[in-house]
Amino acid sequence: MLLGDLSRDDFSNALHPVFARLCKKVKELDLVALPTGQHEIEEGIKMNVMEFQTTAAETKKAEMHRKFIDIQILISGDEAINYSVTQPTLSLFEEYHNDDDYQLIPEVENKNTIILKPNMFAIFMPYEPHKPGISVNGDKMLKKVVVKVPVEML
Ligand code: CU
Repeated sequence: MLLGDLSRDDFSNALHPVFARLCKKVKELDLVALPTGQHEIEEGIKMNVMEFQTTAAETKKAEMHRKFIDIQILISGDEAINYSVTQPTLSLFEEYHNDDDYQLIPEVENKNTIILKPNMFAIFMPYEPHKPGISVNGDKMLKKVVVKVPVEML
């Protein structure tokens, strides 16, 4: 898991060049005006723009991917995300959905929590479970974008 803030001039200094390039492209967009839905940020790389209401952690499941890295960037609102970087116990997860590249678990094992402010990003590598969209101070609307990076690009 990597954490950063697009507002900083030096945000990309320690990032892999692929992450740096994609984050710079996102930063150049008018994020507040960006319509929800799926867009192509560059050939073969999709990003999903979402607006939804945050909820308590108990009401949702954590997800994990194998083939894609998530770059999750908060546009507006507040968002807590539970995550873990320890080795996941695959037997505790539900079945893996190969076509959509995800599998679920009720809660992240050995969880940590990050709190994103607008312009902050969190990058989740394959096999790093994460539960986004958790309320910080009450259930509120947020807007975010998730860039799906094929792991073979690194
Ligand atoms: Cu994800």
